[in-house]
Amino acid sequence: MKNVIKKNTKPEYVATLYTYVSIIVAVKGVDLYIPQLSVALTIVDLSHNKFEGGIPYIIGDLKSLTVLNLSHNNLTGRIPHALGKISEIESLDVSWNQLIGEIPQNLADLTFLEFLNLSQNHLVGRIPQGKQFNTFKGNSFGGNPKLCGLPLPNKCGENLQKPQLEGNGDGEEEGNLLTWKEVVLGYGCGALLGIILGYLMLSTGRPKWFNAIVDEAEHMIMKRQNKRR
Ligand SMILES: *[C@@H]1O[C@H](CO)[C@@H](O)[C@H](O)[C@H]1NC(C)=O
Ligand SMILES: *[C@@H]1O[C@H](CO)[C@@H](O)[C@H](O)[C@H]1NC(C)=O
Repeated sequence: MKNVIKKNTKPEYVATLYTYVSIIVAVKGVDLYIPQLSVALTIVDLSHNKFEGGIPYIIGDLKSLTVLNLSHNNLTGRIPHALGKISEIESLDVSWNQLIGEIPQNLADLTFLEFLNLSQNHLVGRIPQGKQFNTFKGNSFGGNPKLCGLPLPNKCGENLQKPQLEGNGDGEEEGNLLTWKEVVLGYGCGALLGIILGYLMLSTGRPKWFNAIVDEAEHMIMKRQNKRR
């Protein structure tokens, strides 16, 4: 798969002395029965194993690889940029692993990529936009809560703004927030008190104790104003 020499001669098949080799292999999410295994078929399917560690970047050297399935393993680390070099790839499935980091932008340049599944990993950040990525739907990226941007519903801006607010270390934001809360609280209490007093006044007429409070308040305000002058 590294050194491809494309021959336009008649197709060659993998065969024993008596019979052709046939296989059933999942390609682009569909189980495919291949009655005669062609030598030109370039599939790497290591799915449903217990492989650990990173995806080796040398996979990027397999220039004629068309199907890569690494799903259902315990692969960690980032998706190597080198995968963007597999120019012939049509189907890439790395779902159900422990992959982290962002999706390499250059995967969008894989013009033959028809099927992609990055679901159920720990990928983060903005999904590459444009080109081949415009053809993929949300089910290619599910189960990565920190991924954002189309075709997923969570917008990237919302995710980015939160840490900015928290990271504003000078405390001004917090101060303003507190004052704002106090104002609302004060206004609310005042309004409630006013309503209660108003109700009492209407229902009982202006009671003596209320007159006393008002007189006292007026007195205090006058005193303050005099002091200021
Ligand atoms: C990858 O392999 C699993 C089975 O091991 C299969 O269910 C899945 O459909 C395959 N992915 C693709 C894209 O064919
Ligand atoms: C990718 O894999 C997930 C989980 O196995 C599945 O739900 C989803 O339908 C797959 N996406 C595609 C495009 O087949």
